[in-house]
Amino acid sequence: MLRFYESQTIADFYVKYRPTYSKEVANVVVNYLKRKRGIAEETQVVFDQLIDVACGAGQATSLFAPFFQRVDGIDVSPEMLKQAQQQNVFSHVIYKEGAAEKIPASDHSADLVTSAESVHWFDLPKFLQEARRVLKHDGCLAIMGSSFPQVIEPLKLPGGNEYEMGKLATKLFTKYALEGIYDVVAYNHVFNKYKDIFKAIPSNTKEYNDDLTLHFQWTLEEVVGYLKSIDSVHNVLIQKAKEFEELGVEVTEELLKPFDLSERFRSEVKAAWKVEEIPDTEVVIRGEHKMFIILVSNFNE
Ligand SMILES: C[S@@+](CC[C@H](N)C(=O)[O-])C[C@H]1O[C@@H](n2cnc3c(N)ncnc32)[C@H](O)[C@@H]1O
Repeated sequence: MLRFYESQTIADFYVKYRPTYSKEVANVVVNYLKRKRGIAEETQVVFDQLIDVACGAGQATSLFAPFFQRVDGIDVSPEMLKQAQQQNVFSHVIYKEGAAEKIPASDHSADLVTSAESVHWFDLPKFLQEARRVLKHDGCLAIMGSSFPQVIEPLKLPGGNEYEMGKLATKLFTKYALEGIYDVVAYNHVFNKYKDIFKAIPSNTKEYNDDLTLHFQWTLEEVVGYLKSIDSVHNVLIQKAKEFEELGVEVTEELLKPFDLSERFRSEVKAAWKVEEIPDTEVVIRGEHKMFIILVSNFNE
């Protein structure tokens, strides 16, 4: 039998519950590349090579794939790569194992290097050095990130008062997303919207964009699933599962439920909203994330 922490991978939750990026995100990045190449925004072009670093299950890779002839998605996690391969609908996209600090690509081969929701985990100087190595002389680097959902507001509650109840749910979401935090430095980069990462990039031709807000309308089931896909939340379960296994106790989902922060969020929100009797799939919620995008050109000069 597979051990719990090998059978329950974060990649499963990631594919199911992480939202895909909007077209606007692709436009900001691709228009930047066009601008730097002197190509008008309205001109349709297909660039040569994209390398998406820490591609995960391929959400950002798929967003950018139509703009390139060849695409490599690179990640250190075999589980994430397996999911990416299963979801892949493009014949020109290849997923392979590799680290941001040692990108498996030849020198000056890429028009664009992207990395979404990941750079806070990297050894930044090593990644930047590698990005510089693999980029063509007129290639660009795009680093993307997003905040945790900032508003979690129920659309309609039995007793009304959606605004106040939304504020409470947003607070609870952040509380539980952070409770299992094990790498404060990495999360601090997300909280300051990658502004310190932007500062640390040694280039005079860089831009920072935090104009885009992604709006969503999810069910409570999807918000809980999103929480499960956050590694600080997942990490608590894995840690607990290991502790039980070391004691020789058989680990089941039922056994771990009291330690599951996403389940605590679910029950507290349902009680506060007085929707215990309504299935999670019927509780509708709206919310938003802020995107932050760092764009760098002339990295090789
Ligand atoms: C939050 S996921 C983001 C996935 C994807 N880019 C997206 O936007 O959906 C973070 C990913 O970074 C990968 N990762 C973390 N550190 C890495 C490193 N040093 N090199 C390559 N991948 C890494 C993890 O395996 C995980 O798939």
